[in-house]
Amino acid sequence: MDNRETILQVKNLNKVFGEEVKTQVLFDLNLEIKKGEFMSLIGPSGSGKSTFLNILGALERPTSGEIIFEGRNINTLNDKDLARFRNQYLGYIFQFHYLFPEFSALENVLLPYLINHSVKTPEIIKKAENLLGMVELSGFEDRKINKLSGGQQQRVAIARSFINDPKIILADEPTGALDTSTSRAIMKLMREYNNESGTTFIIVTHDRNIAGSTERIVELVDGKISKDFSPKEIGEAQAWKELERHACTDCDTLEK
Ligand SMILES: Nc1ncnc2c1ncn2[C@@H]1O[C@H](COP(=O)(O)OP(=O)(O)OP(=O)(O)O)[C@@H](O)[C@H]1O
Ligand SMILES: [Mg+2]
Repeated sequence: MDNRETILQVKNLNKVFGEEVKTQVLFDLNLEIKKGEFMSLIGPSGSGKSTFLNILGALERPTSGEIIFEGRNINTLNDKDLARFRNQYLGYIFQFHYLFPEFSALENVLLPYLINHSVKTPEIIKKAENLLGMVELSGFEDRKINKLSGGQQQRVAIARSFINDPKIILADEPTGALDTSTSRAIMKLMREYNNESGTTFIIVTHDRNIAGSTERIVELVDGKISKDFSPKEIGEAQAWKELERHACTDCDTLEK
């Protein structure tokens, strides 16, 4: 039994794209996510993972259904309140970073803070520096984003997602463009942060090795939840079986 409190609840969620030609992408999804959960959302390309994550992250609105954050239905918020809600409670790590290439690593980490504050206090600068230290980028504070490697940029994106102490971090293929050892280091970093801060993580991936390192795996196929399990509960061997048809990197070293 998972007796942690619920942080996010999805009720009968549907998403249809298009006005004249309608395409339904998500079908009647129901899901309950607990506070502090470290979960992954896996599924083939086009199954609706990013669409679902964007709706969970209040970046997109559902066609019907409810997203309830700590007991509050966020669909009823207007655009301005929704923007404030996102900034206050959510952090995002997306594959294409959305970092500002002409700004330094430190300035990028501070951006979510500056949306709601007009001045940078010495405390927040120190916090941003500490976060860069945590992702092993001390000494790179003043380096422009376009002068950093892909893995370094990804780590800036992670540090940035932590700056406002979000309650939920949403990550879309956070390791998608990285080599295996960098991917593992990034996953480890996120897990450590999850353990220390209790922040909930929802990580989209199509890679079963990444999914296998999370505490709960939800599989989406054709816009429907087809599996929802904990690798720890069902055992590693069974978990690999459940994930058999998913892509994986570096299978030789992890699969026996
Ligand atoms: N804005 C949009 N308008 C119309 N259709 C869309 C839109 N965004 C996504 N889709 C469609 O919805 C389906 C699900 O897309 P989504 O990006 O959620 O998939 P995904 O599981 O994230 O795939 P991938 O692993 O390739 O990133 C796809 O068929 C896609 O073409
Ligand atoms: Mg996607």
